[in-house]
Amino acid sequence: MICLGIEGTAHSIGVGVIKNVKGACQVLSNRIKTYQPEKGGIHPREAANHHALHIASLLSDSVQAAGVDFAEIDLVSFSQGPGLGPCLRTAATAARALALSLEKPLIGVNHCVAHLEIGRGTVKGCKDPVLLYVSGANTQVIAFAEGKYRVFGETLDVGIGNCLDKFGRELGLGFPCGPKIEEFAAKGTEYLALPYSIKGMDLAFSGILTAAEAYVQQGKRLEDVCYSLQETTFAMLTEVTERAMAHTEKQEVLLGGGVASNKRLREMVQTMAKDRGARFFVPSRDVCVDNGAMIAWLGFLMYQSGVRMKLEDSLINQRFRTDMVEVCWRD
Ligand code: ATP
Ligand code: FE2
Repeated sequence: MICLGIEGTAHSIGVGVIKNVKGACQVLSNRIKTYQPEKGGIHPREAANHHALHIASLLSDSVQAAGVDFAEIDLVSFSQGPGLGPCLRTAATAARALALSLEKPLIGVNHCVAHLEIGRGTVKGCKDPVLLYVSGANTQVIAFAEGKYRVFGETLDVGIGNCLDKFGRELGLGFPCGPKIEEFAAKGTEYLALPYSIKGMDLAFSGILTAAEAYVQQGKRLEDVCYSLQETTFAMLTEVTERAMAHTEKQEVLLGGGVASNKRLREMVQTMAKDRGARFFVPSRDVCVDNGAMIAWLGFLMYQSGVRMKLEDSLINQRFRTDMVEVCWRD
């Protein structure tokens, strides 16, 4: 079965084509275009206009790169939520139009669950992980329990990626600046104390951001502030992930989202896993960030297990929670 997925929850619009090969996901193509705000944060309407402008060429590019014909696509899936309304609507409209014109079934999927399933589908040996999902807008620790993907911990304010991007934006480091902060942090030598803010199993980043910005204003070395920012926030993420693993007794940890590219975060989570005798997995970067292939793969899993979606049920859901999904494709 060949499935095409359209991702459009935030500033990226992506089209991926996947094939099921004996229960594993083979990515045939995965094209992404990202909206770059000229200044400031992401403006939902402008991001949606960007997506509308690029979706048609992305569709043909991705299908061509996959080496298939539109007629060979068996299923169309799209990111139904959570995300920014105008962006979601643009992706959903494109998916509906495509499914109707190809006369193929349509399935809307949960974006966060897709991040987890693409790890299970593409990384060998990854079967039942705790997912640490760290992107711009999202920060969640997710695991499968009693028929659903449950959120064991999450951010109470901004996502970790947004926290890093906001910090960098104040300093004129461009956008997105997670990678720049990583470079500065690697040259840090002195740890500057920052609030360590875990509340139960949840996390908060805005106080840390304010404190880090204050250090910059006081003239502290940027390398040291970046280093301290990473050490503090990544230790918090690792702690919550470890507690979720202990609670669920899972032996695998998986990273997902754009911040999973960060080497220091990988190192910390990997060390924690090793200490527990657990296995550590991270998918390749192209399926870690927001992408169409993960949407296609989850669409396939759902369809294969009997899920069908009528056109009138394909409305987007900006607040589509991870634990609202009935996970019928797993035992
Ligand atoms: P979502 O809608 O799922 O929240 P998104 O569109 O913000 O996603 P992704 O493409 O998953 O996100 O990730 C983008 C984020 O990843 C940005 O905030 C960026 O700064 C961050 N990022 C990318 N590379 C690194 C890195 N090496 N270190 C830290 N952060 C990084
Ligand atoms: Fe994402």
